[in-house]
Amino acid sequence: MSGLRAIRGEIVHFLGDPADLGSDALAHFPDGLLIVRDGLVAELGPAGELLPRLPAGTAVDDYRGKLVLPGFIDTHIHYAQTDIVASYGEQVLAWLEKYTYPTERRFADPAHAAAVAEFFCDELLRNGTTTAMAFATVHPASVDALFAAARKRHMRMIAGKVLMDRNCPDFLRDTADRGDAGSKALIERWHGRDRLLYAVTPRFAPTSTPEQMALAGRLFADHPGVYLQSHLAENEREVAWVARLYPEARSYLDVYERYGQLGARSVFAHCVWLDDTDRARMAATGATISFCPTSNLFLGSGLFDLDRAQAAGVRVGLGTDVGGGTSFSMLQTLNEAYKVQQLRGQRLPVERGFYLATRGGARSLYLDDRIGSFDTGREADLVVLDPAATPLLARRTAVATTLAERLFALMLLGDDRAVAATWVMGEPAWRRP
Ligand code: GUN
Ligand code: ZN
Repeated sequence: MSGLRAIRGEIVHFLGDPADLGSDALAHFPDGLLIVRDGLVAELGPAGELLPRLPAGTAVDDYRGKLVLPGFIDTHIHYAQTDIVASYGEQVLAWLEKYTYPTERRFADPAHAAAVAEFFCDELLRNGTTTAMAFATVHPASVDALFAAARKRHMRMIAGKVLMDRNCPDFLRDTADRGDAGSKALIERWHGRDRLLYAVTPRFAPTSTPEQMALAGRLFADHPGVYLQSHLAENEREVAWVARLYPEARSYLDVYERYGQLGARSVFAHCVWLDDTDRARMAATGATISFCPTSNLFLGSGLFDLDRAQAAGVRVGLGTDVGGGTSFSMLQTLNEAYKVQQLRGQRLPVERGFYLATRGGARSLYLDDRIGSFDTGREADLVVLDPAATPLLARRTAVATTLAERLFALMLLGDDRAVAATWVMGEPAWRRP
């Protein structure tokens, strides 16, 4: 880690939730300077004020003309599904059988896992994503491969071994005991090492026996600080299947609650088909929803109700859900989130969008004291966005008169091409050639 360095550019971050603070939520320095010491944010302010005080010889990276934001946070993604992104034609249950399980089978080979993990982490960085919460596969070595690749790049990564002991092909089926022992060993090996955090990972209620669901809940309870990630109420056929498998439960969400899997640091992807009781339980227990719009549209799952989730006080982050989702880009994820909101007769203001991708995502993961903003002491992860990255973006942003308008153009038209550079812990991790 370096000592002191600085980044100059148009700097934007959030001081809090725009839903609470309104326009005071956004801090904007048209010509700003972000000073980093030993990988952490030391100071942020107008360049004119801070530059004269900078010790002689401090390296200053000049990104004037570009926007500097906290690194994006992807709260739900599957690294092992990188190679099946954009697989044609199915909704989730058939898609799992036809594409997902066969591709996850290949992760029994640690060399394959390592190669995909390297590509995956590079692809996140190329898209400006510096923190991700990711599924591996049932193979413990697949988790080792992902954590090793993230660690090499100093990225924040929350990940876990998939738990699956029924309703899946033999070649991916674990036993409840083996899944439990494997998860424990991975927690010992990785949780809290550098920037890595472990997530107990029951795939979804249909692929775990009640015995495995109970063990997963116990693992989550017995390891404070460890996360839990799963899927919830994504697709109507899936919801009906869960009702048949767990007739005693009030709802799909109630299955997870009965097995002790609901609480702070438990993150459920999708949540398209919840009712108000479910939302109230999620809010009361501190559980989190990962809203995955590109996946929900691609797999024809449905339209997530962001306003209702927020009105109920549920923590919400954004997820790409690659490979059910169709892009690693959080900008493209925001683009489709905006359109989901439109189809629901709702709005996604640009401030709310970028909040969800940064500080709001961090809050949804209980990590806002570490990442998601440029508050002093935060880990200095950042993305540099180029408002003129493509001919169309350049034309559109040239006639934009406000910051909100330029950010909205990036949110709708931007993707990996708009990411000029990505920094991790105060060091450049990727630069567009
Ligand atoms: N439900 C259970 N597993 C998965 C998965 O891998 N992707 C999606 N989108 N939904 C799931
Ligand atoms: Zn998923």
